[in-house]
Amino acid sequence: MSLGKATAHESAALHVAGVAQYCDDIPLPANSLHAAFGISPVAHGKFNGLDLSRTLAIPGVFAVAQAADVPGANNYGAAVHDDPIFATGFVHYAGQPLFAVAAHSHDAARGAARLAVADIKELPAILDIRSALAAESYVLPTQKLVRGTPEVILEQSPHRLSGSAVIGGQDHFYLEGHIAIALPQDDGGLLIHSSTQHPSEVQAIVAHALGCEANRIMVSCRRMGGGFGGKETQPALIAAAAAVLAHKTGRPVKLRLDRDDDMIITGKRHDFLADYDVAFDSSGRITALAVMLASRCGYSADLSGPVNDRAVFHLDNAYFLEHLSITSHRCRTNTVSATAFRGFGGPQGMVVIEQIIDDIARHLGMDPLAVRRRNLYGISERNVTHYGQTVQDNVLPVMLDQLEASSHYQARRAAIAAWNLNSPVIKRGIALTPVKFGISFTATQFNQAGALLQIYTDGSVLLNHGGTEMGQGLHIKVAQVVATELGLPLSSIRVTATDTSKVPNTSATAASAGSDLNGMAALAAAVTLRQRLEQLLRAQHGSTIGDVRFADGQVHFAGQSTAFATLCKQAYNARISLSAAGYYRTPDIQWDKATWTGRPFYYYAYGAAVSEVAIDTLTGESKLLAVDILHDVGTSMNPAIDRGQIEGGFLQGVGWLTSEQLHWDEQGKLRTHSPSTYKIPTARDWPQRFDVRLLQDSPNTEPTIYRSKGVGEPPLMLAISVLHALRDACAAAASPSPKYQLSAPATPEAILRAIGGLPGEAGP
Ligand code: MTE
Ligand code: MOS
Repeated sequence: MSLGKATAHESAALHVAGVAQYCDDIPLPANSLHAAFGISPVAHGKFNGLDLSRTLAIPGVFAVAQAADVPGANNYGAAVHDDPIFATGFVHYAGQPLFAVAAHSHDAARGAARLAVADIKELPAILDIRSALAAESYVLPTQKLVRGTPEVILEQSPHRLSGSAVIGGQDHFYLEGHIAIALPQDDGGLLIHSSTQHPSEVQAIVAHALGCEANRIMVSCRRMGGGFGGKETQPALIAAAAAVLAHKTGRPVKLRLDRDDDMIITGKRHDFLADYDVAFDSSGRITALAVMLASRCGYSADLSGPVNDRAVFHLDNAYFLEHLSITSHRCRTNTVSATAFRGFGGPQGMVVIEQIIDDIARHLGMDPLAVRRRNLYGISERNVTHYGQTVQDNVLPVMLDQLEASSHYQARRAAIAAWNLNSPVIKRGIALTPVKFGISFTATQFNQAGALLQIYTDGSVLLNHGGTEMGQGLHIKVAQVVATELGLPLSSIRVTATDTSKVPNTSATAASAGSDLNGMAALAAAVTLRQRLEQLLRAQHGSTIGDVRFADGQVHFAGQSTAFATLCKQAYNARISLSAAGYYRTPDIQWDKATWTGRPFYYYAYGAAVSEVAIDTLTGESKLLAVDILHDVGTSMNPAIDRGQIEGGFLQGVGWLTSEQLHWDEQGKLRTHSPSTYKIPTARDWPQRFDVRLLQDSPNTEPTIYRSKGVGEPPLMLAISVLHALRDACAAAASPSPKYQLSAPATPEAILRAIGGLPGEAGP
């Protein structure tokens, strides 16, 4: 049985040998063209037209596509239709595509695109959250959730604090940038290879753009070189532009974004601002909280509705907030439209409450961990969230006990305090923070999946399901499910490219629900086929043969056994179908958007981390010294993959909260659009000691696939422990600034500001 085993990623050997094929590696037909976008140089303006004469004069340029060349809908907006493929009338951000050029080479297309002259009359731009709030500039209506009577309690409370949190955005920095290849078929159809988490959406949007039916468009994705949420909605823009050019020229068109173009043109994690007012008692227990959340959504809605909703849902993180009000503003700015990113708004909500808890602890002179424990959800009381979902399987109190002991948190905290007394320049800090993350798409209809399973007469199995592989190990997990159900070695199961012509109407692979959904759909298909084979066996040997067991490539019954392959051949001869579709939908979830109540999440995934850091109070530099993680994946389907997700997710979170800084200048141009200026973590940022453990003997209380839990996103939020270890170190500095809170990312500048070490700084 392969379930539960630490099995390598299904493409691990291909990855390390460098032969795993990504979109860019697919050989092109001889008549193929390469495309590039021409983009807006300004953040906001009236777009009066283009002079393309110099572009078209470049040898090797075949065609240009603008809005007027889109035969159908010039839009790739998924939820709200406010994302033009090519700008018309106005431009809304610096980097917005105005047109695309198709030429004989990638470089010729890029060079030619730059020679176009756009006639744009510049208009005033709104670039940041505070300006958008002042102008009441929103992409979607403001949401408000209230439980209890926070205002009354705030007024009466003897202990009260207010403050602001500043939380930066993040570029996905997938190693493989956005890419699509559009290949015209003989009947007017189009085959598209797309690096996408959401093939069905690419299919639907390309069909709309071309004004044709969905059955004309096939979208395929074997694997992505990382997606991280950045390839949920954004691939539709790339694919639609390639499709329009393919339609116009009748030739295959490949559109691959250069790294700089990718960073400038496509969406990122939302940055957030929060203002809060909190009341608490002398033990540190929060009695009332009022929070204003605002995020920079960019020029269009994209996924900003559900992303901000998830920030509201996760503002509690792991804490019971009895009297609470949250106002959530979705700010419209003249910047690239922000999109999904691992955690989907949840991390930003959690950073806010963790800062509030830390502020209370420092105000009362308590260990922040004690205040965290004081506010933790209870087991049988104080266990209903602000949206009315009961926290049913709260393992956090147990996990915090385990991690506090195994990491020697208390002893280390005391040692750090003593060490800091004798260290004037270098200061150390430590923090333990928990994570509780809801698993399911909050848009209930997305919680469904399909699979197509085919057995050939030699007993080999071809598996196709609606999920996409982006490095997270989804395919190996689903293959393990099928191998286990059919009693076959993993080597008998081959997973093929995700393909809209095999499994239709799929959801994005997102919300950490990929294996929950597709694993169950594949299981359903495998059960159907196993039952058919069993029926055949009973027809052959009589219904009294008793239990039939599929194991080790054999089918065992009544003291005998037959090779699986032999039975498959017999099934064929008996005219029994050896292919089946499987389907799954998550049960028992719903929520009411109007009242903000219900059960949006099937279950919660939990985790906790202890991080220890050192800062240099003269330069603001910091170093992550040691990390201890305890994470809950239910019953692990594959501990090797799960550990990879925990380590990778954590370090991606560390990058978000410490070194990765997006900088837009006063003209609204993104100045950090390559690794020279945008600093993702490297191998050197790996902590010297990194202890990762999976919570043992903790099956999911819900009947998920093999009682496992989703693991794709939750570990990213364990990195909040690093931000808080840095706050702890800043608090130990000689003169912590009364004016500045440590903002995220905690860059050297932010750390210096927080400890009052940046001369000449005015107030906030
Ligand atoms: N891991 C790798 N290696 N690459 C990725 O792009 N994306 C993350 C996470 N882990 C990602 C990853 C995100 S944002 C999500 S939602 C989940 O994987 C999606 O996959 P799953 O649902 O199968 O966990
Ligand atoms: Mo993940 S942000 O849900 O793609």
